[in-house]
Amino acid sequence: MSETTVYLVTGSNRGLGLGLVTRILEKHDHAFVYAGARNPEKAQPLQNLQAKYPNRISVVKCVSADVEGNTALAREIEKRHGRLDTVIANAAICDTTGDVSNISVPLLEEHFHVNVTGTIVLFQAVYGLLKKSISPRFVPISSSVGCLDSDSIKHLAGGLAYGASKAALNWATRKIHFENEWLVAFPLSPGATDTDMLRGNVAADTTGYLEKLYGENTSVPTVEAVSSSLINIIDKSTRDNDGGRFIHVDGTQIPW
Ligand SMILES: NC(=O)c1ccc[n+]([C@@H]2O[C@H](COP(=O)([O-])OP(=O)(O)OC[C@H]3O[C@@H](n4cnc5c(N)ncnc54)[C@H](OP(=O)(O)O)[C@@H]3O)[C@@H](O)[C@H]2O)c1
Repeated sequence: MSETTVYLVTGSNRGLGLGLVTRILEKHDHAFVYAGARNPEKAQPLQNLQAKYPNRISVVKCVSADVEGNTALAREIEKRHGRLDTVIANAAICDTTGDVSNISVPLLEEHFHVNVTGTIVLFQAVYGLLKKSISPRFVPISSSVGCLDSDSIKHLAGGLAYGASKAALNWATRKIHFENEWLVAFPLSPGATDTDMLRGNVAADTTGYLEKLYGENTSVPTVEAVSSSLINIIDKSTRDNDGGRFIHVDGTQIPW
C-alpha cells in the first residue's frame, strides 16, 4: 500500500486554495489534506469536499500570523499523522490602492502581517513536522508582481502593499531554502487566476490598466487549470531544480 502524503493548504475555503485542495484530492488517492480556513464551520465548499472524500480531509482553523493557533494546529497534526509532507502557504490579502506617497500605514502593515509574517509564523509552527517527512516541501504562493522587474511597479497605480509584501515573502522563502538543506522551499507564482482577489482588483483599479489585461473581454485562466499546473509543479519539485528559485505557473523561472 502506498504511503499517505500529508498536505496542509492555507486560505483554502475559496479561490486558488480551494482549487489546490480539490486538485490534490482528485489527483492523489493516497493524499490526506489539512485544509486551513479562518472559519472552518462556515467553509461550505470544504465541508462538501469532506463529504465527498471522507477520511481524506480535515478542515482546520488557520489564521495567518496567529502564533498560538498555528502551534495548536501543528500539535493536532502531530497527533494524527506525526508529520507534514507538503505545506502550501496560500492565504494572502491584496489591495492595490495607494501610492508610496499616500498609502495608508495600517493597510501596508496588514499586508506584511498576513502575507509575510503569516508565512513565517506558519513555517515556524510546521518546522518540526516537515523535518519528520522523508520528502518535505514548503511552498508559499507568491506573485509575479513581487518581482523587481514587474510591469506592475511601472504601471499600476498603487500595488505597493501587495507587491512589496510578496517581494519580502520571496526573500524570506529563499532564506528558508538556504537555512534548511533538508527542505524543498520556493515561492510559486500562479499568474492571473479568476478569483475574488483578481476580480476585486480589476474593479478597484481606476486606471483601466487591469481592465485591459484581465477585464470582461479577456480570458483569465480558471482556478481549476491553474491549480492543476501548480500541483504538478509542487509534486515534481526538487531542491536541485526548484529550491530557492522563483517559479512561475508555466514552470519557468522568474527573475527576482
Ligand atoms: N488570483 C490571482 O490572480 C493571483 C495572482 C497572483 C498571486 N495570487 C496569490 O494566490 C494566492 C491565492 O489568492 P486568491 O486569488 O485565491 O485569493 P482570494 O480569492 O482572495 O482568497 C484568499 C484566501 O486567503 C484567505 N485569507 C485572507 N486573509 C487571511 C488571514 N488573515 N488568515 C487566514 N486566511 C486568510 C482567505 O480567507 P477568507 O475567505 O476568510 O477571507 C481566502 O481563503 C494568494 O497568495 C495570492 O496572493 C493570486
